[in-house]
Amino acid sequence: MTKIKAAITGVEAYFPEYALTNEELSQMVDTSDEWITTRVGIKERRILRERGKGSSYLGSIAVEKLLKKTKTSPSEVELLICATVTPDMQFPAAANIISEKTGIKNGFSFDINAACSGFLYALATAASFIESGNYKKIIVVGAEKMSSITDYTDRATCPLFGDAAGAVMIEPSANKDVGIFDYKLESDGDGVKHLHMKAGGSAKPASHETVDAREHFIYQEGQAVFKFAVSRMADASLEMMDKNDIKPEDLAWLVPHQANLRIIEAVARRMGISKDQVMINIHKYGNTTAATLPLCIWEWENKLKKGDNIILTTFGAGFTWGAMYLKWAYNGNNTK
Ligand code: UT7
Repeated sequence: MTKIKAAITGVEAYFPEYALTNEELSQMVDTSDEWITTRVGIKERRILRERGKGSSYLGSIAVEKLLKKTKTSPSEVELLICATVTPDMQFPAAANIISEKTGIKNGFSFDINAACSGFLYALATAASFIESGNYKKIIVVGAEKMSSITDYTDRATCPLFGDAAGAVMIEPSANKDVGIFDYKLESDGDGVKHLHMKAGGSAKPASHETVDAREHFIYQEGQAVFKFAVSRMADASLEMMDKNDIKPEDLAWLVPHQANLRIIEAVARRMGISKDQVMINIHKYGNTTAATLPLCIWEWENKLKKGDNIILTTFGAGFTWGAMYLKWAYNGNNTK
């Protein structure tokens, strides 16, 4: 039996209009453009300011654009997976709300929470549904309103995050030489102490005290997370290269999670690749958690060529991390 391969056949993205610059942040907390630029590599991040709009708003616009661009009717979509840590509400899933907003009524939908690795986990999940032979059109969307869980009085975390969404179409590959070839996903719950949100879940539901203690925001021990992020993303990516016999010069693009420019550079160094083989847009959007990978792929789509060797890699809360090796399935178009 010939194995069905899954491929990305289209990509779209959406980010809010409002750009919060380092200069503006410097008026809010004790920080500077110089510190943020040299330590993290971010210049500005997009923020969804309209009240009452959540991640599903961002995600549904990305999905609508994707349907239009790929000339897909909502009724053809069999499954929509949303990767997010900032769903509109604890339940139902943001994926259900995005499906409703975009008219996807013939399929099912669910969320995946693997923090910054959510998009990679969702992509691997979608690939497995396609490889089963039972599904032909799946949308994976990473959608995050990180500003809703960012403490804008905490200078250690507030410069880092931004809001955005990116969506890809996954279909059976028409050609066995392209598509998703391999992946490795990992997690280690021991990482919870370094990166989490203290309250608002079932262990510590929201109360007057939790709000007063500012426990509904991202808590991160930056240095510990930094070290794990570099070693785990590099190890997972090198494993993809080794297993699939990809030399540094054979790699067209590395698509790394965008949390810190220094992390990205360290991972690229360990892989033996140059900076011009790496997709980097952290300066414009910051860390958009599950949306960083599709946002990169969308921005680079026009440069991508059929057969390009691409490695995606992520690291996030959990800890969760992994890498995926794919061969790009089509030549970039100019529809954007
Ligand atoms: O996406 C999920 C995974 N997350 C990540 O991968 C993030 C990993 N961590 C990081 O990217 C970095 O650790 C951070 C960007 C979060 C922090 O950078 P760092 O180089 O590790 O800085 P640090 O936390 O060690 O702080 C160094 C100094 C401290 O001052 P002292 O103690 O040396 O006097 C901080 O108080 O920088 C200070 N600092 C700041 N100064 C100006 C911390 N934040 C700021 C700030 N502006 N915004």
